[in-house]
Amino acid sequence: MAIRPILRYPDSRLREKSVDVVAFDDGLRQLINDMSETMFASNGAGLAAIQVGAPLRVFIIDGPVAVGTDDAPPKVFINPEIVSLSDESQTGDEGCLSFPGIYVPVKRALRARVRAIDLDGNTFEIDGEALFARAMQHENDHLIGRLLIDQCGPVKREIIKRKLRKDKEAEAAEAEATPS
Ligand code: NI
Repeated sequence: MAIRPILRYPDSRLREKSVDVVAFDDGLRQLINDMSETMFASNGAGLAAIQVGAPLRVFIIDGPVAVGTDDAPPKVFINPEIVSLSDESQTGDEGCLSFPGIYVPVKRALRARVRAIDLDGNTFEIDGEALFARAMQHENDHLIGRLLIDQCGPVKREIIKRKLRKDKEAEAAEAEATPS
């Protein structure tokens, strides 16, 4: 297993539309293992494959968020489809590992039912509520290149862009000050 670098906005790859997985092979298993390790290392609630540069329709959700028990492994969704969303909604702050330090209030369906395939190639359907439902909707957005920043108005979008630019400059300056 290895931690892979997470693409950050405005990396153009984050706008790519991911494609269906066709090979359930060791490469896929490796990708998902690495995604799990990467998500743990960054304390994320979920991660889509495109965020580590793999444009495949795959996302994972943190085990405790998906299953509710502390030691549950990440829940894996391959070629997922949203089957239904509740009319009832929730609005809450949402983050994304591709937008470090940014939180945006986003309105989502309170409940979501998703159909997907697991690593063994079996199709399953799962119902989620609250944070789990939010996480599935957020990760599913990544598969079509829709991002957190698209949920904001123009003013907030500019503020986010400026903050991310500043953070990047600060990191570059720090790297220069401490040559390795
Ligand atoms: Ni995200």
